[in-house]
Amino acid sequence: MTKPLHVLVLAAGKGTRMKNGRAKVLHPLAGRTLLDHVLAVAGELQPSRVVLVLARGMDEVAGSARAGGLPLSVAIQEPQLGTGHAVQVAVADLPAEGEVLVLYGDTPLIRAETLRALLDARRQNDAAVAVLGMNPPDRTGYGRFLERDGQLVAIVEERHADAELKRTGLCNAGVMVMDGARLPELLAAVPHRPEKNEYYLTDIVELARARGWACVATEGPWQDGVGINSQVQLAEAYRLLQERLRLAALEAGVVMTSPETVHLSADTMIEPGAIIEPYVVVGPKVRIGANAHVQAFSHLADCTVGETADIGPFARIRPGSRIGIGAKVGNFVETKNAQLEPGAKVNHLSYIGDASVGAQANVGAGTITCNYDGFAKHRTEIGAGAFIGSNTALVAPVRIGAGALIGAGSVITADVPADALAVTRAPQSVRPGHAQTLRARFSERKSQGKQE
Ligand code: UD1
Ligand code: MG
Repeated sequence: MTKPLHVLVLAAGKGTRMKNGRAKVLHPLAGRTLLDHVLAVAGELQPSRVVLVLARGMDEVAGSARAGGLPLSVAIQEPQLGTGHAVQVAVADLPAEGEVLVLYGDTPLIRAETLRALLDARRQNDAAVAVLGMNPPDRTGYGRFLERDGQLVAIVEERHADAELKRTGLCNAGVMVMDGARLPELLAAVPHRPEKNEYYLTDIVELARARGWACVATEGPWQDGVGINSQVQLAEAYRLLQERLRLAALEAGVVMTSPETVHLSADTMIEPGAIIEPYVVVGPKVRIGANAHVQAFSHLADCTVGETADIGPFARIRPGSRIGIGAKVGNFVETKNAQLEPGAKVNHLSYIGDASVGAQANVGAGTITCNYDGFAKHRTEIGAGAFIGSNTALVAPVRIGAGALIGAGSVITADVPADALAVTRAPQSVRPGHAQTLRARFSERKSQGKQE
């Protein structure tokens, strides 16, 4: 029988090395905060409890974590006396039976499969402690595993490691799983480290070995353990995550000829056969249907793009947009909270906000839905098969009936019934030959040195 799993997420650190005063774990990474990445992975393991360790005053972090729907409680660590102390605070309310998995809030690339391998290693060896090691290209800042005769004997923080260990030791990813029954004794024995005024969680390995308890190390993909302590490391984690997301999309049958230029979000869903051209940026909550075509330099966020729809180049699809099957949104078009029914076309230079566009309707170049009066947003509804002439301003709230036709350059302020023609521009006046007359007059003035 497997024991209940308790996941601790440590996030009370001040994150001073981020140098911007913002809580470290609320920094965004590909459409999610660092903490949400970690909590999503914790959720995949179906833990019986998740305890998030925060400092006092981190209410924003607590609120965002509670919104995630996990069986989560928050433990306040005050003052912050290191990772060992943080775990001690977190386990205080946990039942002793079970396994305790420690994740760091600043290690967002960790994956459930890597954690499962670590959990299995602990169980198979009935180890008191199992730790995740890695071999990253940049080893700066990580603790190192000290192994003797293939046995893990200690984790040595970088500042205490000699040059040889720094070079050769596996780096500590910061992920550990412990036997809940033996953990309290280890935590109680963790020594105070005066150099940082901290209790290091990493010291429990040596303490377990001193008691003759097994400790195991597994090595995982180094990308999983990348810890973020600075803006430079945040940018590097972003790069690694993008590589992972692009590879997954390609392997699922998405067509990208220059994947290295495409930016995806952690929750992006793209169906096979969709073509994503270079330099497309996909924000959070985007779903792109099969065989849709997103052309170069388009920007999408919180929207759905239907099968075979065609977007861009240079389109901006903002939150709440739903682009129907086979619909077309062309260059320099912005949509926001807009529903385009199948086959609708908005091909050039338009703003379609708080609007619905019926099936097969055609919205001409330069059409603007005037959705905001300075106080409130209003809707524009365009019926199926309607034709909106170029450079039309649709002053919302307004409805254009199915099959209606709007003359180019109109400013539409009242509803137009189905199949009606509406034109609001001033009648055209034509004066034959008058252009020539004007030219002659202006050139004469110029030659006399007069200014208009
Ligand atoms: C820690 C490890 C190091 C490992 C590295 C991996 C220790 C002593 N060192 O170092 O071996 O290679 O992570 O990234 O554990 N935190 C608290 N309360 C505290 C202190 C920290 O909740 O009092 C939290 C932080 O918010 C952070 C995590 O614990 O999420 C790790 O703390 P951090 O200061 O980043 O430790 P590192 O120096 O990175
Ligand atoms: Mg860290």
